[in-house]
Amino acid sequence: MDQLNELRQRIDTLDREMADLFCRRMEASAQVADYKRKAGLPVLDRKREAEILSRNGSALPKQELLPFYTAFQRRVMEISRQYQTSLIGGSSAACLPDLGYETILSRGALTRISDYFDLNRNVMIITDSGVPTIYGRKIAEQCRHVSVFTLPCGEASKSISCLRQLLEEMLRFGLTRQDCVVAVGGGMVGDLTGLAAALYMRGIDFYNVPTTLLAQVDSAIGGKTAVNLDGVKNAAGAFYRPKAVLIDPALLKTLYPRQLSAGMAEVVKMALICDAELFSLIETNAISRLDELIGRSLQIKAKIVAADETEHGLRRVLNFGHTIGHAIEATHPELLHGECVALGMLPMCSPSVRDRLKPVLQKLELPTSCVLDRPAIYGVLSHDKKSTANGITVTEVVEVGHYNMRQVSPEELMARLDIIEEGAFER
Ligand SMILES: NC(=O)c1ccc[n+]([C@@H]2O[C@H](COP(=O)([O-])OP(=O)(O)OC[C@H]3O[C@@H](n4cnc5c(N)ncnc54)[C@H](O)[C@@H]3O)[C@@H](O)[C@H]2O)c1
Repeated sequence: MDQLNELRQRIDTLDREMADLFCRRMEASAQVADYKRKAGLPVLDRKREAEILSRNGSALPKQELLPFYTAFQRRVMEISRQYQTSLIGGSSAACLPDLGYETILSRGALTRISDYFDLNRNVMIITDSGVPTIYGRKIAEQCRHVSVFTLPCGEASKSISCLRQLLEEMLRFGLTRQDCVVAVGGGMVGDLTGLAAALYMRGIDFYNVPTTLLAQVDSAIGGKTAVNLDGVKNAAGAFYRPKAVLIDPALLKTLYPRQLSAGMAEVVKMALICDAELFSLIETNAISRLDELIGRSLQIKAKIVAADETEHGLRRVLNFGHTIGHAIEATHPELLHGECVALGMLPMCSPSVRDRLKPVLQKLELPTSCVLDRPAIYGVLSHDKKSTANGITVTEVVEVGHYNMRQVSPEELMARLDIIEEGAFER
């Protein structure tokens, strides 16, 4: 035991020295950031990072430690990059918990995407017909060898047949495991491309450039990929981490206002479950401080995902509003995903929270009532994939910024639909 204590003390001393070294390294990193800002240089310098790895690696006194040292050095450089990005660009990415991939939040970053993504290989860009072509083109200009695959826009493309088409196209283009795909679009493109990347040759690098608000604040991070099957949402999918995600709020300027509002439903969701201050910000400013709203929502999503990536516990809170929301989405195809989430949140709040939520949704031009197809909704709820013998686990918000998780029966949820239908018949 004495020997163990002695060894531990040695490690404690070394850790203290490393903490000191780390601070000195970050101070130097901040000075480099200042220089780069003045000179207009990008944060990422892949050539220099490769040189550091090779130089330090070959000087490592114990070569058997090389794989561990390389992993450590890569992580240090990544942290340094995030720190510099936060100092230079005001990005909130530096404060995001580690998800195992980089999330860059920076307005205008699309034009310097090759600073963040390794595009010096075969690249396939996947987008859809509703996404302005200029976004894919700007990325293509920064690639050496590129192909663009455009899906028809709309949820119908999130299908096995489009997945197959995409995989076949990747094969035809000759992508190898060293190459990558880049999703440029909303949640539909991201979910489908992520799944294709997971499957192709048992996994190739997947970069995501979300272009809708919903995708920027929610679907692009967290590693959930899927396609729909026989009308069942996300019935076939996988958890597959992107290599990096680039969030450029400037891309939202071409989005239809209805799509922007639908994305705001997810921001409201995050605020209601975890961040009362964010909810007050939305109450007073609605969409006007968009970059801040995106940054704060990302913080919440990333924190939850970091704690429970594969949704065995905490991550289920993100389903707030989604149980009823998904059932409405499956039975009311005229409504967007975010609109269904808006409706789905209302019955899951206490009356006092609902009194604050309704005017917010109205201000955002999101629906607050709807005539529902109850038998069809019951059909969906009774087959909910989150249900167990004890019922369906749902999230409720009794006070803004705080949630409860509870098991309820489909019948109890059906009874709550009155809250959504209230007022709808009078219109
Ligand atoms: N993976 C996850 O964790 C997760 C989370 C939430 C939702 N989702 C999925 O996301 C999908 C919904 O995503 P969505 O709301 O982004 O819809 P979407 O991807 O269908 O995009 C909506 C529309 O906006 C268009 N568009 C995209 N970017 C644009 C831009 N910058 N300017 C103009 N038009 C643009 C698209 O062409 C499309 O017509 C659903 O399939 C849902 O299941 C996934």
